[in-house]
Amino acid sequence: MRIDIISIFPEYFAPLGVSLIGKARERGILDVHLHQLRDWAHDVHRTVDDTPYGGGPGMVMKPEPWGEAIDAVLAADQDARPRIIVPTPSGVPFTQRLAMEYAAEPWLLFTPARYEGIDSRVMAEYGSRLRVDEVSIGDYVLAGGEAAVLVMVEAVGRLLPGVLGNARSAVDDSFAPGEMENLLEGPVYTKPPEWRGHEVPEILLSGHHGKIARWRRDEALRRTARNRAELLAALDPATLDKHDRRL
Ligand code: ADE
Repeated sequence: MRIDIISIFPEYFAPLGVSLIGKARERGILDVHLHQLRDWAHDVHRTVDDTPYGGGPGMVMKPEPWGEAIDAVLAADQDARPRIIVPTPSGVPFTQRLAMEYAAEPWLLFTPARYEGIDSRVMAEYGSRLRVDEVSIGDYVLAGGEAAVLVMVEAVGRLLPGVLGNARSAVDDSFAPGEMENLLEGPVYTKPPEWRGHEVPEILLSGHHGKIARWRRDEALRRTARNRAELLAALDPATLDKHDRRL
């Protein structure tokens, strides 16, 4: 997969050289290209923002540098088109489902903004020719979209074939479509069997795979009820068995 990121802080993405994503890049699974937006601002101050039409606080990112920068990225491959992802708190929620959708794309282009966001005509211009998604990583406001891009690249990158040591880990994830859809993962344990007087639940030491699976599902349901009651309410009743209903 190819990922392009246009930002006024390309150095913000140094963490993409570390750990799982860094290894995926070394192995050629992920090809990341960083671009400095100011390279397409032509005044002496390399200005990328201006005051908002209609008044109000803050600054808005000018359309011209974004247009030139995006055109330059698009020109890198005449035969392919990226899906453009614009991080914004006003976007659709970023979910595991969307991460899986992005993981199936050959090319993603992220356009993280600072200030009050990008002049909307940029999204209109490219939205008429390409898929442009305005995406939020949660109901809070960051100082800019860069941290949101780090979050999304990590969530997408770990789903690419060959990135996770054990492909099963992605299947068991909280929120993964299938068995765990809308369920949070329950608690996990490793050795030793007793630590500071706390014991590992006996069932996990029993070797009884059927009972362990049942216990894990019960714990997932309990944790979901406790931490995310709205997810439990949204569970498809058809996916619940008799034991689930009794819980
Ligand atoms: N930029 C600022 N806040 C954001 C958020 N919550 N999600 C995505 N981009 C953002």
